[in-house]
Amino acid sequence: MNKIISFANQKGGVGKTTSAVNIAASLGVLGYKVLIVDLDPQGNATSGVGIAKKSLKSTSYELLTTEVPAADVILQTKYDNLSILPTTTTLARAEYELGDSKDGEYILKKKLDEVKANYDYIIIDCPPSLGMLTVNAMTASDGVVIPMQCEFFALEGLSQLMVTIGQIKAHYNKTLNVTGILVTMYNSRLLLSTQVIRELKKHYSDKLFETPISRNVKLSEAPGFGEPVYYFEKRSKGAAEYLNVAKELAERI
Ligand SMILES: Nc1ncnc2c1ncn2[C@@H]1O[C@H](COP(=O)(O)OP(=O)(O)OP(=O)(O)O)[C@@H](O)[C@H]1O
Ligand SMILES: [Mg+2]
Repeated sequence: MNKIISFANQKGGVGKTTSAVNIAASLGVLGYKVLIVDLDPQGNATSGVGIAKKSLKSTSYELLTTEVPAADVILQTKYDNLSILPTTTTLARAEYELGDSKDGEYILKKKLDEVKANYDYIIIDCPPSLGMLTVNAMTASDGVVIPMQCEFFALEGLSQLMVTIGQIKAHYNKTLNVTGILVTMYNSRLLLSTQVIRELKKHYSDKLFETPISRNVKLSEAPGFGEPVYYFEKRSKGAAEYLNVAKELAERI
């Protein structure tokens, strides 16, 4: 309990945000107290839980670059047990500012440590890069969840990501572990999908989540309404699968 988990993959559009938002919401439905930290300047997790970015007074940018405590930036969402530390595009500037500051890798960790005890799970949605924002996320985390699509190049990207995780573990965070690899946008009728899963099982059998997330149109529609899929369409395949993955996650960490 009281675990911090980064959702990371340097490849764009692989389902990081969709997984972070829906697993966080599912954990909330299961009764866990959850905080999502939006660490991607795109702010997709922020809008994905129905927060209007224009209304924000402070964001993860101020969190990382000023003295403001996390508790002053966190907002309640209208969903069960789910809070968010939101962001806007301004966060892009932090990438450079953190690089220039002494011990810039540890800033998020210091800020989140102050609120960690209030949540069963803190889920961090990372940007599609391995820059200072992702380094901050992993330095603050107990575990990393790697969402990935079933493509050939995904496997190459995965080995690169594993090297980066190893480096962060060596330099900044000895207790960091890979919590799991989550296959997203899965289509069992595609040969490539089954081949990639077979490769993943061969190399990372203990890490792969048992439930792959299928391609499901409700998952792509829900963010447009600012709703996690469980609240958008409870009976959808996407809602059921993310609930299963949330249960698996809670057993692992
Ligand atoms: N299982 C799915 N079925 C259908 N569409 C999906 C699924 N998962 C994600 N999508 C859609 O694919 C797109 C990319 O997903 P998402 O934004 O979660 O990826 P990401 O890795 O966070 O992207 P980025 O790297 O830009 O942050 C989005 O439009 C999302 O709605
Ligand atoms: Mg994203």
